[in-house]
Amino acid sequence: SSKKANAAPWNDSTLALLVHGYAWLPNRMRRSLDSTVRTRLLGRPALALRGPDAVAFFYDEKHVVRTAALPDPVLDTLFGQGAVHTLDGDVHRVRKAMFIALLKDCAGVAALGEHVTRRWREAMADRQQDRMVLFDEAAKVLALAVRDWAGVPLSDAAAAGLARDCTSMVDGFATPGPRHLRARQARRRQEQALADLITDVRRALEADSKGSALKTVAWHRDLDGTLLGPRIAAVELLNIIRPTVAIAWFATFAAHALHRWPQHRDLLRADAAGTYAEAFAHEVRRFYPFAPFVAGLAAQDLTWHGEHVPKDALVLLDLYGQNHDPALWEDPYRFDPRRFASPEGPQDPLANLVPQGGGDPARGHRCPGEDITVTALAAIATELARLDYDVPDQDLGIPLSRMPTLPRSGFEILLK
Ligand code: HEM
Repeated sequence: SSKKANAAPWNDSTLALLVHGYAWLPNRMRRSLDSTVRTRLLGRPALALRGPDAVAFFYDEKHVVRTAALPDPVLDTLFGQGAVHTLDGDVHRVRKAMFIALLKDCAGVAALGEHVTRRWREAMADRQQDRMVLFDEAAKVLALAVRDWAGVPLSDAAAAGLARDCTSMVDGFATPGPRHLRARQARRRQEQALADLITDVRRALEADSKGSALKTVAWHRDLDGTLLGPRIAAVELLNIIRPTVAIAWFATFAAHALHRWPQHRDLLRADAAGTYAEAFAHEVRRFYPFAPFVAGLAAQDLTWHGEHVPKDALVLLDLYGQNHDPALWEDPYRFDPRRFASPEGPQDPLANLVPQGGGDPARGHRCPGEDITVTALAAIATELARLDYDVPDQDLGIPLSRMPTLPRSGFEILLK
């Protein structure tokens, strides 16, 4: 009968994941005795893991590879076909070096943070109305900031369109229906526009790759020595712009945290050095649900904790689960930036924090944009703490069944 159960479609968790969203894997994990969930997804055997040894296991390329791991509905919306996310080995390393050079540069990260603060203050000062949806406002501010920072010549109106398209790409990646169609259209539109821009840059200039993200991507050479095709170049430029706009999700969660636990407003206002703001940003990234898990394929037949994992099985690293694992975090469902403000124990809490993946970003697939995320989020949280506003009556519930999720209202504020 176990053979029959394996063949039954209801043994596949794809539908459960679509229906239950962020709650699917944690629910399954709670019933697991060894922090491992065995199931099927998209018709493949799948194993979901979490914890420090799972991170080491998952990010070893001899164990898990990415080529062919992501389904087309995800590539055609969230990441783009041919994206760095889908590469392995030396080809990945050379493409990834471009992102690391752009996104791990301290001066560059600080400059983006300053763009965000300046654009935020302008947006609040020049507002047409006192009532605003914080999520939409943050996305627009982030799009203007990254446009300036990346050297992308777009009007403010085009940048507002880019903000909407980037949030659509993220909003629609994990769900069938109209949200998914909107995400596909948004990607098609922006890939086309940015591919044209790349072609213009190449026509206008000799190979001057210094000075902006746009130029760096336009003149980047892959492992085989060739320039990226204009479409792939657009995909990778979008892999900088889109996730920067997506910091709007965390910005909205930051507003939610400041509303529920207002004592953090004073702590942020008093924080001249920015250390509390950074700890607050880390806790927002840990506490609130955004990236649920990352996935790859078993590169060969593997053994995980004595158990056989067949080649080509899906291997998932449970990011959201690891960030709430009571074995790693004291009282994980308490929002407390102090976990990151004064790391006293023998273990640096950042070592277990995986909202944007784990391991070494230069050698594996870990997000290269964490410094940018923390800097921009700390800047926005600080601005929010200093801003005088009311939070009118609204639905601030954060449904775990929706992926990605947000307070249902998008978080409306009324400036005073
Ligand atoms: C990869 C999350 C912001 C650029 C990733 C991964 C996750 C993630 C989970 C995959 C890790 C893996 O596959 O092992 C997030 C979240 C963000 C964010 C939650 C918050 C908004 C950013 C920013 C940038 C960025 C701001 C760039 C400015 C990238 C790139 C990759 C990536 C290029 C692909 C890396 C690779 O495949 O080697 N991110 N990220 N992300 N992220 Fe982020």
